[in-house]
Amino acid sequence: MFGSIKNCNNVKDFRELARKKLPSPIFHYIDGAADDEITYKRNTDAFDTCDLVPNVLAGVDEIDMSTTVMGQKIDMPLYCAPTALQRLFHYEGEIGVAKAAEKFGTMFGISSLGTASIEEISSLVSTPKLFQLYVHKDQGLNNDLIDRCKNSNFEAMAVTVDTAVGGNRERDLQTGFTIPMKLNLNSALSFATHPSWAFNYFTKPKWELSNLKNHIDAGTSVMTSIGDYFTQMLDNSLDWKGVENINKKWGKQFAIKGIMSVDDAKKAVDVGATCVMVSNHGGRQLDGARSPFDQLAEIVEAVGDKVDVVCEGGIRRGTHVLKALSLGAKACSGGRMYLYALAAGGQKGVEKSLSNLRNEIQRDMKLMGVSNISQLTQKNLRFR
Ligand code: LAC
Repeated sequence: MFGSIKNCNNVKDFRELARKKLPSPIFHYIDGAADDEITYKRNTDAFDTCDLVPNVLAGVDEIDMSTTVMGQKIDMPLYCAPTALQRLFHYEGEIGVAKAAEKFGTMFGISSLGTASIEEISSLVSTPKLFQLYVHKDQGLNNDLIDRCKNSNFEAMAVTVDTAVGGNRERDLQTGFTIPMKLNLNSALSFATHPSWAFNYFTKPKWELSNLKNHIDAGTSVMTSIGDYFTQMLDNSLDWKGVENINKKWGKQFAIKGIMSVDDAKKAVDVGATCVMVSNHGGRQLDGARSPFDQLAEIVEAVGDKVDVVCEGGIRRGTHVLKALSLGAKACSGGRMYLYALAAGGQKGVEKSLSNLRNEIQRDMKLMGVSNISQLTQKNLRFR
């Protein structure tokens, strides 16, 4: 039933197809989260704590779902959040995702741990580009990444602040997931049972951490888990002053990604951020943390008139996007919502997933009686 991307009508369908296509350590790396995965689950469940209240007879023949976030006008209020290691999931990797985002006129984020280079992405796509900076202990590397993004005309940068230490991802511990992948009996078996993934993995050009490899061996020639990478390579002395200095050096649209409290949102404004990304890293870091949607209203109330607020995480449906916009988010973003699709079908898969979600947003706006996302307000929501 789930054999082809054509039959994938929602994120869940893509998840099932990705599970079939990927060797299990890779599937569980994408799908897994920290500890008991309570926060991961809550990120989506939180959207069910309130209901939409539609208005009717609103003349909804023309729908405009565009929004402006970090100075970028995008055609739909949902974009592809930066995620790591995409060529491991499908050989088309970041380039495929970026091209799919471009077709939908939306933004695309590339991670410091991406498998396509800043320069390559910049030369191939014209859609707004966001770089996710992981601040490393190696200051030379941080400066190099910022300079490369500037030279390649990236429009926006997001510094990730919820990775002071690696999250406890027990599925990765269980499967032994590392980059590069360990070659042992288990992984060989897993490759043998996923022949089309294995064929591409071994026949397409070898992937690497393109933006880090000149500075760091871990993940390229030295095996590491993502948890160990965060703990050993990232600068856990990073503080507000450090983020302010990065912002000064960058000097363009600047987001802080991983803000969960009102106090921190205010500090983000103080250090000159233009955007606050309310996110708990897809539940992959601090299990037991609140969900972005649960924290959204109070953060919008505190800083929404000064910076853009993005709701990141848990998005599986168009109605989730509508609920977040009703609480004042400028846009939503997500990782797994397109990563399963990337694994399932490369660029074409991501296009199908974005198309499903865009159709849902459009249909749901019509059913809500709004033709423009600025008409979505708290009045459209009732909490139970
Ligand atoms: C993760 C990183 C790399 O695995 O974003 O969560």
